[in-house]
Amino acid sequence: MGIYLDNAATSYPKPKVVANAVYDFMINNGTSSGRGSYQKAMESDFLVYNARKEIASLFNFDDPKRVIFTSNVTESLNLAIRGILKEGDHVVTSSLEHNAVWRCLKTLEKERKISITKIDATKEGHTNIEEINKSIRDNTALIIFTHASNVLGTIQPIKEIGRISRIRKIPFLVDAAQTAGVLPIDVKEDNIDLLAFTGHKSLLGPMGTGGLLINCEYNIEPLKSGGTGGDSAYEYQPDYYPNKLETGTLNVGGIAGLLESVKYIKSEGIDKIHKKETEITKYALEKLRFVKNMEIYGPKKSDDILGVISFNIKGMRAEDVAYVLDSKYDIMVRAGLHCAPSAHDLIGTKDIGTLRVGIGYFNEKEDIDKLVYALNKIQK
Ligand SMILES: Cc1ncc(COP(=O)(O)O)c(C=O)c1O
Repeated sequence: MGIYLDNAATSYPKPKVVANAVYDFMINNGTSSGRGSYQKAMESDFLVYNARKEIASLFNFDDPKRVIFTSNVTESLNLAIRGILKEGDHVVTSSLEHNAVWRCLKTLEKERKISITKIDATKEGHTNIEEINKSIRDNTALIIFTHASNVLGTIQPIKEIGRISRIRKIPFLVDAAQTAGVLPIDVKEDNIDLLAFTGHKSLLGPMGTGGLLINCEYNIEPLKSGGTGGDSAYEYQPDYYPNKLETGTLNVGGIAGLLESVKYIKSEGIDKIHKKETEITKYALEKLRFVKNMEIYGPKKSDDILGVISFNIKGMRAEDVAYVLDSKYDIMVRAGLHCAPSAHDLIGTKDIGTLRVGIGYFNEKEDIDKLVYALNKIQK
């Protein structure tokens, strides 16, 4: 199968129970949820409700109705950002955001004349949270932080940022694309108002699944309006969750897979998953630095990062190295900006990009040995 080291883009392989659940739904049920009153449709409803419940409990959240399903974290972030920010509002965000946040904000800068403060981070992706306090204005309407950078892996102090947002009474939105499923997240302890997640990365679920967890009473305007399966004579979008923000037929097959992947993660234990990925990351950091002409970006302490390591081989283009790794050694890594140009401003790689290794739960140390062997050959 080759060596897959692009888990920061999407996790692969998936646990077999996930694929089986999608298949089983397609073959044995296949009905829409929240629509029909016949037996199979009720089973579909039950499955979706169970998925909301499992996801809520994974993040220590009490209200499954406020787990809104989306097609990915990009949609979840757009829903929260566009649903909250109004004409002339101010927003505070990190220097590490993915374009899922950044392009959404830049679009609203044009459309709604919002203003944006980007909090500086160090070259290693560490944020000075005091800067957040100082940047808050009377019209600050949202604080958005990624939980971990998808370029440098650096984990952000979301609990402390959340504390500031609670004191200043500003909604706090966390992009947990890289962390959900591998780092413990507790929306109460971590002071998170809005948690955006995607199903297909460390949650080990299918593509086309994601969600937004709403742990606050701030108003969020719907991104879409349309059929919700109930209140059909009412001409406007219903005002209760999840229907207010969840419209159109859901990806129940995908949600069936996501339900199983969340159960799988719980049965393995997030701590065990995190420990294994951290060990391999530590091993990779130790081994990679002995490759000649290697330049590794971001923190060198595995405890500060997730299983994401960006690097370059001096004098070689990242794309060329990735091409040879794939074509000659059957090793899959990603090359480029990884949709997060701001992070490259910090490390000076906006023109050249980086190679990125994304370590997942199913990688082993031998995968790193093979990568290091191939890189040594390539740089020669
Ligand atoms: C931090 C971060 N945010 C957002 C995204 C977008 O994820 P999706 O394509 O699942 O919407 C990614 C994926 O690369 C990411 O790493």
